[in-house]
Amino acid sequence: MGRVLSGIQPSGQLTLGNYIGAMQNFVKLQHTEECFFMVVDLHAITVPQEPANLREQTEAVAALFIAAGIDPSKANVFVQSHVPAHAELGWLLTTLTNMGELERMTQFKDKSEGKDSVGAGLFVYPSLMAADILIYNSNLVPVGEDQKQHLELTRDLAQRFNFRFGEYFTMPEPYMPKIGARIMSLDDASKKMSKSSPNAGSFIALLDPPDVVRKKISRATTDSGREVKYDPANKPEISNLMSIYSHCANLSMEEIEARYEGQGYGPFKKDLAEHVVAVLEPLQARYNEIRSSGEIHNILKQGAERAAVIANRTVAEVKERMGFIAPR
Ligand code: AMP
Ligand code: TRP
Repeated sequence: MGRVLSGIQPSGQLTLGNYIGAMQNFVKLQHTEECFFMVVDLHAITVPQEPANLREQTEAVAALFIAAGIDPSKANVFVQSHVPAHAELGWLLTTLTNMGELERMTQFKDKSEGKDSVGAGLFVYPSLMAADILIYNSNLVPVGEDQKQHLELTRDLAQRFNFRFGEYFTMPEPYMPKIGARIMSLDDASKKMSKSSPNAGSFIALLDPPDVVRKKISRATTDSGREVKYDPANKPEISNLMSIYSHCANLSMEEIEARYEGQGYGPFKKDLAEHVVAVLEPLQARYNEIRSSGEIHNILKQGAERAAVIANRTVAEVKERMGFIAPR
């Protein structure tokens, strides 16, 4: 059994991109691996958050994990700040990270672009993410493609630590869906589908009501021509919609192409909307149940307790190797 860790930020609504790129794999991996799935609140505050929003979103994302199919008796679901060892290891690893490495991170460049002032937390964000992963000696990290560069830095830090202080950390690998590791915006297939987009029509939120989903899909941009064909280079818009279709209906690209041969985009989009609704409707029903039952707090408490045992052990070992003395 391997160890799996991943995290999602409680900032804004989760989208179908989060679901296809990451959460579907969380659900899959829980059956065979020892899993840790976190709501990464410490990462969320690297950009300003309203306290009331942060509270609401943290609970909402945790409930969405469960609603999406994560079984808390199989996987540990918890909030990052409930296991303070993450922040501690984050600091220790920050001291092993070079400025140049952080300056090269594309997520940092994107998030800081055009801002007058940029928080230092946003800059050192990848060291904390490395701590999240290494603290459980995780070997698999289910994420979307945009996190690949952070994973590479995590491996570099693990290697650097092992070289300086003796072999200890496991080298983690990203675990990405073959198709759909990067779901694009509905209005522009050159941009990633993102919950922080100002245009709500560009993303499907996991909590969008069915009619909103139908409307957004019917308005989604399509390529010229009318053929439903998977060809990301020449038909980026349709190919993106097909990736969504493939995940929601569990069909291959060939099967989708065959189904709509000679029919044009209209019927394809109509069916796509129904497949997405068929995934989201039961998820939303479970979400509402979990939120109203209040059981999420128990789940998070148990998850954090179990996670902390391993995380505290790692931090103690790392500190010992780095030369910190323990209280006696
Ligand atoms: P975030 O919302 O930035 O915390 O991302 C949570 C997870 O969802 C990460 O593993 C991301 O890589 C993944 N993710 C976010 N947006 C997308 C997208 N448009 N397509 C695929 N994966 C995504
Ligand atoms: N940086 C990730 C994102 O923006 C969230 C994250 C934080 C994460 N810590 C992690 C993902 C550890 C995987 C593993 O999506």
